[in-house]
This record gives sequence, C-alpha cells and structure tokens, in this order.
Amino acid sequence: MHILALSGSLRAQSLNSLLLQEAVRLAPPGMAFSRWEHLDELPHFSPERDAEPLPPAVVDLRARIRAADGLLISTPEYIHSLPAVLKNLLEWVVSSGEGFGKPAAIWSASPSLEGGARAHASLVHILEVMSIRVVPEASLSLTLARSGLNEAGQLQNPAQAAALRAALDWLAAAGEPS
Ligand SMILES: Cc1cc2nc3c(=O)[nH]c(=O)nc-3n(C[C@H](O)[C@H](O)[C@H](O)COP(=O)(O)O)c2cc1C
Repeated sequence: MHILALSGSLRAQSLNSLLLQEAVRLAPPGMAFSRWEHLDELPHFSPERDAEPLPPAVVDLRARIRAADGLLISTPEYIHSLPAVLKNLLEWVVSSGEGFGKPAAIWSASPSLEGGARAHASLVHILEVMSIRVVPEASLSLTLARSGLNEAGQLQNPAQAAALRAALDWLAAAGEPS
C-alpha cells in the first residue's frame, strides 16, 4: 500500500513533519510512504487560477494524490484551526477530486496538552466534506509533542510509538479491498 504523507507545516523542524518521519520508521510491512514537500510552492487558490496551464506544483500534487492508495496528513494547530497553507492545498484538490474515496489517517501534533485537537477536528470535517474516507481508528493527536519527540525526532514513549503503529495498521486495513 502506497501512502502519500503530507505535513501541514512549513517549518524546518516541524513536529508534524517529524511525526511523518516516525510513520516511515515504524510502518507495518507492505506499507510504503512518499512525502509531498512542495506546500510552499502552491500559489494561493482561486477558482480563476484553476485552469490550464496549471501551476507545476498543482499538477504534481494532483498526480501524487491520484497515484496514492491512501493519505496521511499531520497538521499543526494555528489559532484553533488548521494552518492556512494546508487549507490552501485542500482547496486546490477539492473540485478535481483526486482524493475521493481514498482512506486517510489524520494526525496532529502540538506542544500543548490538547495536541492540536481542534485543528484535527477541523481537518476531519473538511476531508469528510471532500468525500475523502477518514479512518477514525487511524487518528492520532500527539500532546506535549516537543518533549515527546527526542533529538532524533523519535517518539520517546513506547505507548505512543505503539499507538502510532496501531494507527498505521488501521489505515492499512482500510486500504484492503473489501
Ligand atoms: C500563529 C500560531 C498560532 C498557533 N496557535 C496554536 C493553537 O491554537 N493551538 C496550539 O496547540 N498551538 C498553537 N500554536 C503552536 C503550534 O502548535 C506549534 O508552533 C507547533 O510546533 C506547530 O507545529 P509544527 O511544529 O509542525 O510546525 C501556534 C503557533 C503559531 C505560530
């Protein structure tokens, strides 16, 4: 199963991007990841811009989503919601529909005690509106993420590593043909 992993953060040392790195490290057998790291190259969405010739980052994003069996998105929380850059990415694929029906694991990480739960909930709602198949059991919110990840960006707590692995197992199960 090929999963496209998207971080909602542009930060070099992003906790959410580190969590995606952990997904690659702890992935179950048969699950392969690729990252899409061109968030910063997407222009601001406007319906008038959604016309040929499309910006190269948009063409690439749509092709990568189309080719994936499932999605893993990890979002920061900005002002109790998801960052504008991630919302912008979703606006570029809402009408083109590459994500329709694909299973998705939604994660968030925050230094706070809530783990970005409000951004997580906003993102789940948006993806459901977009007919992306959010897998509830594959959800994860990493609280106190600054201390939860060590200098190598790895989860310190074995229970959290196990929860991450279980989330990926659920995503894999959701991607199996029924
Ligand atoms: C503009 C801004 C708004 C923020 N708002 C929230 C918030 O509402 N809730 C929260 O838990 N953290 C908030 N934070 C802190 C982020 O959770 C923290 O910077 C986190 O590390 C961002 O994710 P990243 O490490 O993946 O970039 C905010 C940070 C910024 C810069």
